[in-house]
Amino acid sequence: MPYIPLIPLSELPENTHKTVKAGGRSIALFHYEGAVTALDHACLHKGGDLGQGFIQTLDDGEKYVACPWHGWQYNLKTGKAPFGYLDRQAVYDVRIENGMILVSDEPLQQAFRAEHPDDPLADLRNLDYLATRTSLNVLGISTTNMNPDLPRPSTSETALQSALDFAASEFGAATKMIRIRDLKFRHCEGYYSRHEEACTWPCSIAEMDPSDGMTEVYRSLVLWADAVILATPIRWGNASSLYYKMAERLNTVQNQITIHDKVLIQNKAAAFIITGGQDNVQGVAGQLNTFFTDLGFTLPPFNFIGWSRGWIAEDTENNYTRFFRNRYVKRSVKELVTNLLMLVMQIKHMDASHLQTPKPKISEAGSLTE
Ligand code: FES
Repeated sequence: MPYIPLIPLSELPENTHKTVKAGGRSIALFHYEGAVTALDHACLHKGGDLGQGFIQTLDDGEKYVACPWHGWQYNLKTGKAPFGYLDRQAVYDVRIENGMILVSDEPLQQAFRAEHPDDPLADLRNLDYLATRTSLNVLGISTTNMNPDLPRPSTSETALQSALDFAASEFGAATKMIRIRDLKFRHCEGYYSRHEEACTWPCSIAEMDPSDGMTEVYRSLVLWADAVILATPIRWGNASSLYYKMAERLNTVQNQITIHDKVLIQNKAAAFIITGGQDNVQGVAGQLNTFFTDLGFTLPPFNFIGWSRGWIAEDTENNYTRFFRNRYVKRSVKELVTNLLMLVMQIKHMDASHLQTPKPKISEAGSLTE
């Protein structure tokens, strides 16, 4: 079998590893425990560079490289995934001749990626939409936080429930409420910042963590909903921290446009309920509007209602009572829903398959000319 010279051994000291290009391929070289070993550099998950991975010793006493993108692990000598997994990375034979590292032209062992027929995220991966031409599915997302053992009245969430009830009674809509505080999920871990392709659909955190609460949001928002009404309190002039925690995890939706020019959110509209003891309703609405249109949502006219009693309204115990005695609130909730659903019924019949996306694309990053 022919061998390809790669680099001098002196360029790969003990306890180091790196990826080297040669003969049209990229090989991840490892120098640990007195031996040089070689694996194909591209992780079998999404192609992360194993030459930039982390070396870990597992319970079997063997050394593994953990992919820097999402942590898939491969034995440095055998290329095998840890016990319980069948995946196996391609392994090359290594020779040291005259101080040079050479690897076999062909792998000693081909890569093998195990099938996972019971993929719990298959519906997300395949985009099995539940919204149809005739459905009218309204998703309410409440982003206020509270102690479940000491519940308190919430202006934003009660208005959201009123909106869903009105959508059901007046328009015959199917409705669903998600309270973000009831979901357990990790913060976005910023894989995008390592490599744009490392931010995947479905989200790699959902793939890694079967109990990830964001899976319910992805299913409901992307696959099920025709319309979304998001309710948030105003916290220090902004939407709630739970909203931002959720929004960061929705990078996986927006990133599909950047990377693959693929719009997951089609023929859907969004509206907002923004309430707070103090001001900045319009500032919060600006952020929500921008974010949701970046995801692909359409916005109806007058797509948010706000409530704020102003800068000196520190008598918060009166806030809820005044909110619900207010004629403006009762009227505006109904009008918000009406505008939203009238728009949805129009846009559901549009062909969104040729939607233009005037957003930055990865293929244009750093481009200087047309
Ligand atoms: S690309 Fe390697 S673990 Fe995801």
